[in-house]
Amino acid sequence: MWSNTYIKYIGANDHDLDLFESQYPISHGVSYNSYVIVDEKIVVMDTIDIRKSEEWLNNLAEKIGDRPVDYLVISHLEPDHAANILELCKRYPNMRLIGNAQTFNMLPNYFDIEGLNEKKVVVKEGDQISIGKNTLQFFMAPMVHWPEVMVTYVPEEKVLFSADAFGKFGTLDYEDGWVDEARRYYLNIVGKYGMQVQALLKKLSGLDVQVICPLHGPILTENLGYYINLY
Ligand SMILES: [Fe+2]
Ligand SMILES: [Fe+2]
Repeated sequence: MWSNTYIKYIGANDHDLDLFESQYPISHGVSYNSYVIVDEKIVVMDTIDIRKSEEWLNNLAEKIGDRPVDYLVISHLEPDHAANILELCKRYPNMRLIGNAQTFNMLPNYFDIEGLNEKKVVVKEGDQISIGKNTLQFFMAPMVHWPEVMVTYVPEEKVLFSADAFGKFGTLDYEDGWVDEARRYYLNIVGKYGMQVQALLKKLSGLDVQVICPLHGPILTENLGYYINLY
C-alpha cells in the first residue's frame, strides 16, 4: 500500500459484506479507506464502517502511538465512513472536527456530540489549514454522492483525498483490472450525479495531483490521466 513520510493508510478490507448499502452485490468485498497525516498536527482523514472499528483503531494507534489526534476531516457523512466520529471524539476530547456548513447541518442527525460548537472548524471552497510542513486545502464536491461531500488537497505532497470519487468495489487484496469494479461502483453510487462529478473534475484540473486517495479501493499513483479520462 502506498504511503509517504506523512500520509499513512489506516483503512480495512471487508470480505464478508454481501450487499453494499444493503442493495449492491459485492462478491469481491470492499475496502473502507481511512488515512492519517502525521505532521506537527495529526489529522485523521475520515473514519470507517462500524464493522471494522477495532481494526481501524488499532491501525491508527500503530501509526501515532501516544500522540493525540488534532483534527478529524469529515469528507462524507455516509455511515461507511462516518460511523466512528463519536468514538474518536471520546478518545481525543481536544480533537477538532473539520467539515463544511452542510456537514455540520447534517452531523446532529447521526451523533449527539458534546461541545460540538467548540470542536467544529467550518471550511468553505478553497480554504486552507496549515498542519506543520503540510497544508490542507478544501474543495466542495456537493452530490458526489451526498450534499456535504468535500475533497482535500495537500499541495506539498500533491495528494488528493477524493472521497467517494475514484472509489471502487473489491477489497485491496482482490487483484483485478481497476475498470470493471470501478465502473460498477461509479454507475451504482455516483453515476446519477455525473454533472457534479464533471464539475468537480473541472475544478481540480488546475491542481497538480500525483496521488489520489479515495474512500474505497486502491490508492492511485500512476497514469492518473487514464482514470480521470474514464471518469
Ligand atoms: Fe458515499
Ligand atoms: Fe463510500
